[in-house]
Amino acid sequence: MNGSIRKTNNSVGVAAGGAEIAVKTTGLTKKYRRGDGEFAALSNVDLTIERGEFVAIMGASGSGKSTLLHLIAGLTRPTSGSVEVEGKRIFDCGDRELTIFRRRRLGVVFQSYNLIPHLTAEENILFPLRADGRDVASTLEKMRGLSAELDILQQLGQYPDSLSGGQQQRVALARGLCADPAVLLADEPTGNLDWTSGQNVCRVLNKLNREEGRTIALVTHEPAVAVWARRVVVLSDGEIAADMSTSEFSDASALAARYQEIARRESRSN
Ligand SMILES: Nc1ncnc2c1ncn2[C@@H]1O[C@H](COP(=O)(O)OP(=O)(O)O)[C@@H](O)[C@H]1O
Ligand SMILES: [Mg+2]
Repeated sequence: MNGSIRKTNNSVGVAAGGAEIAVKTTGLTKKYRRGDGEFAALSNVDLTIERGEFVAIMGASGSGKSTLLHLIAGLTRPTSGSVEVEGKRIFDCGDRELTIFRRRRLGVVFQSYNLIPHLTAEENILFPLRADGRDVASTLEKMRGLSAELDILQQLGQYPDSLSGGQQQRVALARGLCADPAVLLADEPTGNLDWTSGQNVCRVLNKLNREEGRTIALVTHEPAVAVWARRVVVLSDGEIAADMSTSEFSDASALAARYQEIARRESRSN
C-alpha cells in the first residue's frame, strides 16, 4: 500500500449528517446460486462516493462491476448490506417509491442500451422526463445541446434499429443525462465507441463533472477512459482491490501499468 491507496471506509472530511455523500454502500453483498452452492458476485463492499466525485470502477470481466452499479441503482436487491443514495436507504423503499426515486435522482446508462424500439432517439432521450410528468419544453434546448456534444444531433428523428451501436450508446447516455440526475451511473458507456468518440464522451462527462459538479460513477475496463475520472476503484472477485486517486498517474499508460500490477497481484492471491 502506498499513499495513493485510499481506505474505502474513511469518511473524514464528510460533513456530519452525510450531506456531502452521494452514494454509500455498507457490507454490500450479492450472492447467486451456482451449481449446488452459491457464490458472491459482490462481497462486503464498503464504498463511499462523495458529491461531485467522478469515479471509474475497473476490474476484469466478471469481477462484479455491473452488479455493483445495478445495486447502487436499486435495480437488483442485495443479499445483505445497504445502499444509501443522496441520504436515502434505497432498499428500505417499496418498488414504486424506488422507481420514482431512480427516475428523479439517478441517470442510469446500461451496458445494453435499453432503448425503446418504437420511440425515436429524441423521444427516448426525453422519456424519463415525460414518464415523470415533467415539463419537456424547457429541456429541449439542453437536449439538443447535449446531442450536439455527443454528435447525435442528426440522428434524433431516427428509431433505435436504424442507429449504429455507438449511436445507440450515445442516445442512452443523453437519456441518462437529460434529466439532470444527482448521480450518473454508467456501465461501460464507451464500450461500443471508437477511440475518438470514446474520448469525446469522456470529455463531455468531464465537463459535466467539473462545471456542473455532477457526481459520476462509470464502469470501464479501459485505462484511457478511467484516467478521465478523479478516482479509480478496482474490483477483483467482488471485492475492492484498490481505490486510487488518478492524480497519482501522469497519463493513461501509467494507470494501465498500475492496473496490470494490481491484476497480477490479485491473480497470485487467488
Ligand atoms: N443474474 C445472475 N445470475 C447468476 N450469476 C450472475 C448474474 N448476474 C451476474 N452474475 C455473475 O456474477 C459475476 C459478476 O458479474 P458482473 O457484475 O456482470 O461482472 P462484470 O460487470 O464485472 O463483468 C459473474 O460471474 C456473473 O456471471
Ligand atoms: Mg459488466
